[in-house]
Amino acid sequence: MTSVVLAAYLVAGILFILSLAGLSAQASARRGTVLGMLGMGLALAATVALALERSARPWPVTAGLILLVLVVGAAVGTWRARRVEMTQMPELIALLHSFVGLSAVLVGYGSYLGEPAAGGGDAVHRVEVFLGVLIGAVTFTGSVVAFGKLSGRLSSAPLTLPARHLLNLAALVGCGALLAWFLGAGTTAAGLAPLLLMTVVALALGWHLVAAIGGGDMPVVVSMLNSYSGWAAAAAGFTLGNDLLIVTGALVGASGAILSYLMCRAMNRSFWSVVLGGFGSAGGAAPAGGTDQGEVRETSPDAVAALLTAARSVVVVPGYGMAVAKAQHPVADLVGRLRERGVTVRFGVHPVAGRLPGHMNVLLAEARVPYDIVLGMEEVNPDLPGTDVVLVIGANDTVNPAAQDDPSSPIAGMPVIEAWKARDVVVFKRSLATGYAGVGNPLFFRENTAMLFGDAKEQVDKIVQAL
Ligand code: TAP
Repeated sequence: MTSVVLAAYLVAGILFILSLAGLSAQASARRGTVLGMLGMGLALAATVALALERSARPWPVTAGLILLVLVVGAAVGTWRARRVEMTQMPELIALLHSFVGLSAVLVGYGSYLGEPAAGGGDAVHRVEVFLGVLIGAVTFTGSVVAFGKLSGRLSSAPLTLPARHLLNLAALVGCGALLAWFLGAGTTAAGLAPLLLMTVVALALGWHLVAAIGGGDMPVVVSMLNSYSGWAAAAAGFTLGNDLLIVTGALVGASGAILSYLMCRAMNRSFWSVVLGGFGSAGGAAPAGGTDQGEVRETSPDAVAALLTAARSVVVVPGYGMAVAKAQHPVADLVGRLRERGVTVRFGVHPVAGRLPGHMNVLLAEARVPYDIVLGMEEVNPDLPGTDVVLVIGANDTVNPAAQDDPSSPIAGMPVIEAWKARDVVVFKRSLATGYAGVGNPLFFRENTAMLFGDAKEQVDKIVQAL
């Protein structure tokens, strides 16, 4: 039986690797998801089989308990997944990471308390337990704070306590000292005190680490927590002696770290400047730019339709507002009509547009926009000076010229889509409110920019009618 289970684990591990490979391109993403689901199904079945075989109780009791947990988990998971909006995906992911962290903590405690009471468990096992609980606890509270910030339950402004880096350092040094105490404890009961103390310190550390990071950096934080949750799972795999959990945890840990790195590069930030925090502020209703930026020019759907009819090349820059308005279908319709008239239309997608990696690509794929007209930021920027009209649909931070022009801006240095270089720019949004990073946008006040105020979906529908 055990060798069958091990073989199943191996196949599941290979399916997970193939799944990640599939997810690296939009065209193969569906296949990647299916392979991942198959791998997870196989892993679950094999784990349940193993648990039944090793069960100390009569097997029907174990089977009943597992079934109960599976039914409850599957019911809650299905209910949440059906209800969640695309825009709430990052907060759901953050919440799920917190579960991984919490389970690593519980697995660590469970495994430790299973040691002989007189102590004498081997040191390697104790280090595994300690690290598993440490990473798990940091992941747990960090993910809860990320969930709070992304869902608006907590302020997205960074918490900048005085000497905050020293506090983090002190927490890590303290954990090192507690590890020494833990390893030296003679009995299991005596080791419990340093383990509990470390858990409290790690919970506080996770909370503080993420609380110190501002709203604009949350995408990187979510992928960083994804990486932590992978390492927490791998640590749990070591404590449980489960090879598949080690492999899967390492895959998640490594891919999350690579994604964090790629996102930092897209934002022109160093990984450490993000992790150490203090950047970004509350997004929301502050007026753009605040001081004396001049007047904005308003336009109407009819005027935009006329502008588009006369254009030869158009670039659409979608952002978070397109997702909120669910405007992707009318936008795809508008683009289709313009292309029928011989207008060259492309999409310019910023790597952190929206609220999760690939957010805009998913929405555009859902609206059946052909992949070949969806370009990345680097591909579209060189074409913008020769473009007649740029339609900025619900994007804000990702088209903010202050990132290039204003060294004092909190988003200075972030690469942006240079919409302002086109002949005409039309910005679709409801007000002059700031975007996620809470920074004013001088683009709205440029001479070649016109604002089309209102819900993006309604306005695009009106333009389609006018066309
Ligand atoms: P944002 O800068 O967040 O701006 C979105 C704009 O959409 C808002 O200014 C809002 O203005 C407008 N809007 C909202 N609802 C609308 C509606 N129904 N109709 C029309 N407009 C609407 O968007 P972005 O340019 O996509 O930038 C993304 C930001 O989110 C970046 O700062 C990024 O760092 C951050 N972030 C990204 C991710 C990832 S991984 N993509 C994850 C978390 C955070 P009004 O209120 O005036 O309408």
